[in-house]
Amino acid sequence: MKLSGEARLAGVLGWPISHSLSPRLHGHWLREYRVDGAYLPLKVEPEKLAEALRGLIALGFRGANVTLPHKERALELCAEVTERAARIGAVNTLVVRDGHLEGDNSDGFGFLENLKERADAWQPEQGPAVVLGAGGAARAILVALLDAGVPEIRLLNRTRSRAESLAEDLGGPIQPLDWGSWERALEGAALLVNTTSLGMQGQPPLDIELDALPRSALVNDIVYVPLETRLLAAARVRGNPVVDGLGMLLHQARPGFESWFGVSPSVTPALRRAVLET
Ligand SMILES: NC(=O)c1ccc[n+]([C@@H]2O[C@H](COP(=O)([O-])OP(=O)(O)OC[C@H]3O[C@@H](n4cnc5c(N)ncnc54)[C@H](OP(=O)(O)O)[C@@H]3O)[C@@H](O)[C@H]2O)c1
Repeated sequence: MKLSGEARLAGVLGWPISHSLSPRLHGHWLREYRVDGAYLPLKVEPEKLAEALRGLIALGFRGANVTLPHKERALELCAEVTERAARIGAVNTLVVRDGHLEGDNSDGFGFLENLKERADAWQPEQGPAVVLGAGGAARAILVALLDAGVPEIRLLNRTRSRAESLAEDLGGPIQPLDWGSWERALEGAALLVNTTSLGMQGQPPLDIELDALPRSALVNDIVYVPLETRLLAAARVRGNPVVDGLGMLLHQARPGFESWFGVSPSVTPALRRAVLET
Protein backbone atom coordinates (compact mmCIF):
# COMPACT_ATOMS: atom_id res chain seq x y z
CA MET A 1 0.00 0.00 0.00
CA LYS A 2 1.32 3.46 -0.92
CA LEU A 3 2.00 5.83 1.98
CA SER A 4 -0.04 9.02 2.13
CA GLY A 5 1.03 12.25 3.83
CA GLU A 6 -1.00 11.08 6.82
CA ALA A 7 0.80 7.74 7.16
CA ARG A 8 1.20 6.50 10.72
CA LEU A 9 4.83 5.86 11.68
CA ALA A 10 6.46 3.53 14.20
CA GLY A 11 9.71 1.58 14.45
CA VAL A 12 12.13 -0.29 16.67
CA LEU A 13 15.12 1.32 18.38
CA GLY A 14 18.11 -0.91 19.09
CA TRP A 15 21.90 -1.17 18.83
CA PRO A 16 22.55 -3.20 16.73
CA ILE A 17 19.21 -3.51 14.97
CA SER A 18 19.80 -5.44 11.74
CA HIS A 19 18.96 -8.81 13.41
CA SER A 20 15.55 -7.60 14.65
CA LEU A 21 12.56 -9.50 13.26
CA SER A 22 10.12 -6.75 14.29
CA PRO A 23 10.15 -4.83 10.96
CA ARG A 24 9.25 -8.05 9.14
CA LEU A 25 6.55 -8.86 11.67
CA HIS A 26 4.89 -5.44 11.67
CA GLY A 27 5.43 -5.16 7.90
CA HIS A 28 3.36 -8.33 7.42
CA TRP A 29 0.49 -6.92 9.51
CA LEU A 30 0.66 -3.51 7.78
CA ARG A 31 0.17 -5.27 4.42
CA GLU A 32 -2.43 -7.72 5.75
CA TYR A 33 -4.60 -4.95 7.21
CA ARG A 34 -3.83 -2.45 4.42
CA VAL A 35 -2.73 0.18 6.91
CA ASP A 36 -1.47 3.55 5.68
CA GLY A 37 1.63 3.26 7.84
CA ALA A 38 5.27 2.17 8.12
CA TYR A 39 7.47 0.46 10.72
CA LEU A 40 11.22 1.10 10.51
CA PRO A 41 14.41 -0.39 12.00
CA LEU A 42 16.09 2.51 13.87
CA LYS A 43 19.75 2.04 14.78
CA VAL A 44 20.35 4.20 17.84
CA GLU A 45 23.58 4.41 19.85
CA PRO A 46 23.06 4.14 23.62
CA GLU A 47 24.33 7.72 24.21
CA LYS A 48 21.81 9.06 21.73
CA LEU A 49 18.69 7.38 23.08
CA ALA A 50 17.20 10.45 24.80
CA GLU A 51 17.79 12.55 21.68
CA ALA A 52 16.29 9.85 19.46
CA LEU A 53 13.16 9.59 21.60
CA ARG A 54 12.66 13.38 21.48
CA GLY A 55 13.13 13.06 17.71
CA LEU A 56 10.38 10.44 17.44
CA ILE A 57 7.94 12.83 19.10
CA ALA A 58 9.08 15.74 16.93
CA LEU A 59 8.68 13.66 13.77
CA GLY A 60 5.13 12.70 14.66
CA PHE A 61 5.78 8.99 15.26
CA ARG A 62 2.90 7.17 16.97
CA GLY A 63 5.44 5.27 19.04
CA ALA A 64 8.06 2.56 18.86
CA ASN A 65 9.43 -0.65 20.24
CA VAL A 66 12.72 -0.57 22.11
CA THR A 67 15.07 -3.51 22.25
CA LEU A 68 18.57 -4.23 23.59
CA PRO A 69 20.36 -2.34 25.04
CA HIS A 70 17.77 0.42 25.54
CA LYS A 71 14.94 -1.24 27.49
CA GLU A 72 15.93 -0.03 30.99
CA ARG A 73 17.11 3.46 30.06
CA ALA A 74 13.99 4.06 27.95
CA LEU A 75 11.84 3.41 31.02
CA GLU A 76 13.56 6.30 32.80
CA LEU A 77 12.90 8.57 29.83
CA CYS A 78 9.14 7.95 29.73
CA ALA A 79 6.74 10.51 31.20
CA GLU A 80 4.47 7.64 32.28
CA VAL A 81 4.89 3.87 32.54
CA THR A 82 2.42 1.05 33.13
CA GLU A 83 2.49 -0.76 36.44
CA ARG A 84 3.83 -3.95 34.86
CA ALA A 85 6.66 -2.07 33.11
CA ALA A 86 7.61 -0.42 36.42
CA ARG A 87 7.75 -3.82 38.14
CA ILE A 88 9.77 -5.35 35.33
CA GLY A 89 12.07 -2.32 35.32
CA ALA A 90 12.16 -2.11 31.52
CA VAL A 91 9.95 -1.08 28.60
CA ASN A 92 9.64 -2.58 25.13
CA THR A 93 6.70 -0.55 23.77
CA LEU A 94 6.38 3.24 23.64
CA VAL A 95 3.28 5.18 22.66
CA VAL A 96 3.31 8.93 22.00
CA ARG A 97 0.29 10.56 23.64
CA ASP A 98 -0.21 14.33 23.86
CA GLY A 99 3.44 14.90 23.03
CA HIS A 100 4.88 12.64 25.69
CA LEU A 101 5.97 9.01 25.93
CA GLU A 102 4.04 6.28 27.68
CA GLY A 103 6.02 3.09 28.26
CA ASP A 104 4.77 -0.46 28.59
CA ASN A 105 6.33 -3.91 28.67
CA SER A 106 4.45 -6.57 26.70
CA ASP A 107 7.03 -9.40 26.97
CA GLY A 108 5.17 -11.16 29.78
CA PHE A 109 1.88 -10.71 27.95
CA GLY A 110 3.47 -12.25 24.82
CA PHE A 111 4.83 -15.14 26.88
CA LEU A 112 1.42 -16.01 28.39
CA GLU A 113 -0.52 -15.50 25.16
CA ASN A 114 1.88 -17.88 23.41
CA LEU A 115 1.20 -20.60 26.00
CA LYS A 116 -2.56 -19.94 25.83
CA GLU A 117 -2.53 -20.21 22.04
CA ARG A 118 -0.37 -23.31 21.72
CA ALA A 119 -0.99 -25.22 24.95
CA ASP A 120 -4.50 -24.46 26.09
CA ALA A 121 -4.49 -27.42 28.51
CA TRP A 122 -1.94 -25.63 30.73
CA GLN A 123 -3.46 -23.50 33.48
CA PRO A 124 -1.28 -21.25 35.68
CA GLU A 125 -2.75 -22.54 38.94
CA GLN A 126 -2.08 -26.19 37.99
CA GLY A 127 1.21 -26.48 39.83
CA PRO A 128 4.78 -25.22 40.31
CA ALA A 129 6.61 -23.50 37.47
CA VAL A 130 10.37 -23.87 36.99
CA VAL A 131 12.09 -20.86 35.44
CA LEU A 132 15.70 -21.13 34.23
CA GLY A 133 17.53 -17.80 34.06
CA ALA A 134 17.31 -14.47 35.86
CA GLY A 135 18.00 -11.95 33.10
CA GLY A 136 15.73 -9.37 31.49
CA ALA A 137 13.36 -11.84 29.85
CA ALA A 138 13.06 -13.87 33.06
CA ARG A 139 11.97 -10.77 34.94
CA ALA A 140 9.06 -10.12 32.57
CA ILE A 141 8.07 -13.81 32.65
CA LEU A 142 8.18 -13.97 36.45
CA VAL A 143 5.89 -10.94 36.75
CA ALA A 144 3.47 -12.55 34.26
CA LEU A 145 3.48 -15.90 36.08
CA LEU A 146 2.97 -14.24 39.47
CA ASP A 147 0.08 -12.14 38.15
CA ALA A 148 -1.46 -15.21 36.49
CA GLY A 149 -1.60 -16.99 39.87
CA VAL A 150 1.10 -19.67 39.60
CA PRO A 151 1.29 -21.14 43.13
CA GLU A 152 5.08 -21.65 43.28
CA ILE A 153 8.01 -20.62 41.10
CA ARG A 154 11.36 -22.39 41.35
CA LEU A 155 14.01 -20.06 39.98
CA LEU A 156 17.39 -21.43 38.90
CA ASN A 157 20.18 -19.23 37.62
CA ARG A 158 23.90 -19.87 37.04
CA THR A 159 24.63 -16.83 39.23
CA ARG A 160 22.42 -17.67 42.19
CA SER A 161 22.68 -14.19 43.72
CA ARG A 162 20.82 -12.75 40.70
CA ALA A 163 17.96 -15.18 41.27
CA GLU A 164 17.90 -14.27 44.95
CA SER A 165 17.73 -10.54 44.36
CA LEU A 166 15.04 -11.03 41.70
CA ALA A 167 12.96 -13.10 44.14
CA GLU A 168 13.39 -10.47 46.85
CA ASP A 169 12.55 -7.67 44.45
CA LEU A 170 9.40 -9.19 43.01
CA GLY A 171 8.09 -10.88 46.16
CA GLY A 172 5.54 -13.71 45.98
CA PRO A 173 6.17 -17.46 45.96
CA ILE A 174 9.55 -17.45 44.16
CA GLN A 175 12.07 -19.94 45.50
CA PRO A 176 15.68 -19.57 44.27
CA LEU A 177 17.47 -22.91 43.83
CA ASP A 178 21.01 -23.88 42.82
CA TRP A 179 21.71 -24.19 39.11
CA GLY A 180 21.98 -27.94 38.43
CA SER A 181 19.61 -29.08 41.20
CA TRP A 182 17.38 -30.53 38.50
CA GLU A 183 15.71 -33.26 40.53
CA ARG A 184 14.61 -30.95 43.31
CA ALA A 185 13.44 -28.31 40.84
CA LEU A 186 11.54 -30.51 38.42
CA GLU A 187 9.71 -32.85 40.77
CA GLY A 188 5.96 -32.24 40.53
CA ALA A 189 6.38 -29.25 38.19
CA ALA A 190 3.60 -28.27 35.78
CA LEU A 191 5.70 -25.92 33.64
CA LEU A 192 9.39 -25.63 32.70
CA VAL A 193 10.61 -22.49 30.93
CA ASN A 194 14.11 -21.76 29.64
CA THR A 195 14.77 -18.02 29.63
CA THR A 196 18.56 -18.29 29.45
CA SER A 197 20.41 -17.79 26.18
CA LEU A 198 21.64 -21.41 26.37
CA GLY A 199 20.56 -23.40 23.33
CA MET A 200 20.47 -20.34 21.10
CA GLN A 201 22.42 -20.53 17.85
CA GLY A 202 26.08 -19.73 18.66
CA GLN A 203 25.62 -20.38 22.41
CA PRO A 204 26.40 -23.53 24.39
CA PRO A 205 23.54 -26.03 24.71
CA LEU A 206 21.40 -26.24 27.82
CA ASP A 207 22.49 -29.35 29.71
CA ILE A 208 19.61 -30.44 31.87
CA GLU A 209 18.41 -33.80 33.18
CA LEU A 210 14.67 -34.07 32.67
CA ASP A 211 14.20 -37.41 34.52
CA ALA A 212 12.28 -35.89 37.45
CA LEU A 213 9.92 -33.83 35.28
CA PRO A 214 6.35 -35.18 35.11
CA ARG A 215 5.44 -36.16 31.54
CA SER A 216 2.37 -33.97 31.75
CA ALA A 217 4.47 -30.82 32.35
CA LEU A 218 4.52 -28.20 29.63
CA VAL A 219 8.01 -27.27 28.38
CA ASN A 220 8.65 -23.88 26.79
CA ASP A 221 11.91 -22.48 25.47
CA ILE A 222 11.85 -18.75 24.74
CA VAL A 223 14.91 -19.14 22.50
CA TYR A 224 13.57 -19.25 18.93
CA VAL A 225 16.76 -19.61 16.87
CA PRO A 226 16.66 -22.55 16.35
CA LEU A 227 12.93 -23.06 16.69
CA GLU A 228 13.34 -26.59 18.04
CA THR A 229 16.06 -26.34 20.68
CA ARG A 230 17.67 -29.41 22.21
CA LEU A 231 15.55 -28.87 25.32
CA LEU A 232 12.33 -28.98 23.29
CA ALA A 233 13.49 -32.00 21.26
CA ALA A 234 14.39 -33.93 24.44
CA ALA A 235 11.09 -33.01 26.11
CA ARG A 236 9.09 -33.98 23.02
CA VAL A 237 10.81 -37.39 22.83
CA ARG A 238 9.80 -38.22 26.41
CA GLY A 239 6.20 -37.19 25.69
CA ASN A 240 5.96 -33.72 27.27
CA PRO A 241 3.87 -31.09 25.52
CA VAL A 242 6.22 -28.40 24.14
CA VAL A 243 5.87 -24.80 22.92
CA ASP A 244 8.58 -22.91 21.03
CA GLY A 245 9.60 -19.30 21.64
CA LEU A 246 8.55 -17.66 18.39
CA GLY A 247 4.97 -17.08 19.53
CA MET A 248 6.18 -14.96 22.46
CA LEU A 249 7.84 -12.60 20.00
CA LEU A 250 4.73 -12.48 17.81
CA HIS A 251 2.25 -11.92 20.62
CA GLN A 252 4.33 -9.27 22.43
CA ALA A 253 4.03 -7.15 19.27
CA ARG A 254 0.20 -7.02 19.35
CA PRO A 255 -0.39 -4.21 21.90
CA GLY A 256 2.04 -1.85 20.13
CA PHE A 257 0.58 -2.47 16.69
CA GLU A 258 -2.93 -1.82 17.98
CA SER A 259 -1.92 1.44 19.71
CA TRP A 260 0.00 2.85 16.74
CA PHE A 261 -2.03 1.63 13.79
CA GLY A 262 -5.54 1.23 15.25
CA VAL A 263 -6.04 -2.44 14.33
CA SER A 264 -5.97 -5.39 16.75
CA PRO A 265 -3.79 -7.87 14.81
CA SER A 266 -3.90 -11.69 14.86
CA VAL A 267 -1.06 -14.15 15.16
CA THR A 268 -1.56 -16.55 12.26
CA PRO A 269 0.39 -19.37 10.57
CA ALA A 270 1.06 -16.93 7.69
CA LEU A 271 2.67 -14.48 10.12
CA ARG A 272 4.89 -17.25 11.55
CA ARG A 273 5.96 -18.18 8.01
CA ALA A 274 6.66 -14.56 7.05
CA VAL A 275 8.83 -13.99 10.12
CA LEU A 276 10.76 -17.25 9.62
CA GLU A 277 11.42 -16.68 5.90
CA THR A 278 15.13 -16.31 5.20
N1 LIG B 1 10.89 -15.32 22.43
C1 LIG B 1 11.01 -14.04 22.75
O1 LIG B 1 10.15 -13.19 22.42
C2 LIG B 1 12.20 -13.57 23.55
C3 LIG B 1 12.15 -12.35 24.24
C4 LIG B 1 13.26 -11.94 24.98
C5 LIG B 1 14.40 -12.76 25.01
N2 LIG B 1 14.41 -13.92 24.31
C6 LIG B 1 15.60 -14.79 24.36
O2 LIG B 1 15.85 -15.11 25.72
C7 LIG B 1 17.24 -15.26 25.96
C8 LIG B 1 17.63 -14.41 27.18
O3 LIG B 1 17.42 -13.04 26.93
P1 LIG B 1 17.64 -11.94 28.08
O4 LIG B 1 17.33 -10.64 27.46
O5 LIG B 1 16.97 -12.33 29.35
O6 LIG B 1 19.23 -12.06 28.30
P2 LIG B 1 20.08 -11.63 29.59
O7 LIG B 1 19.39 -10.57 30.37
O8 LIG B 1 21.46 -11.38 29.08
O9 LIG B 1 20.11 -12.97 30.50
C9 LIG B 1 20.80 -14.11 30.09
C10 LIG B 1 20.51 -15.28 31.03
O10 LIG B 1 21.16 -16.44 30.52
C11 LIG B 1 22.03 -16.97 31.52
N3 LIG B 1 23.22 -17.58 30.90
C12 LIG B 1 23.98 -17.05 29.91
N4 LIG B 1 25.02 -17.89 29.62
C13 LIG B 1 24.89 -18.94 30.47
C14 LIG B 1 25.66 -20.12 30.67
N5 LIG B 1 26.76 -20.39 29.93
N6 LIG B 1 25.25 -21.02 31.61
C15 LIG B 1 24.14 -20.78 32.36
N7 LIG B 1 23.38 -19.65 32.22
C16 LIG B 1 23.76 -18.75 31.28
C17 LIG B 1 22.38 -15.81 32.40
O11 LIG B 1 22.83 -16.28 33.67
P3 LIG B 1 23.80 -15.35 34.61
O12 LIG B 1 22.88 -14.44 35.36
O13 LIG B 1 24.49 -16.34 35.48
O14 LIG B 1 24.73 -14.63 33.68
C18 LIG B 1 21.03 -15.07 32.46
O15 LIG B 1 20.16 -15.71 33.38
C19 LIG B 1 17.92 -14.86 24.65
O16 LIG B 1 18.24 -16.03 23.97
C20 LIG B 1 16.86 -14.07 23.89
O17 LIG B 1 17.01 -14.19 22.49
C21 LIG B 1 13.33 -14.35 23.60
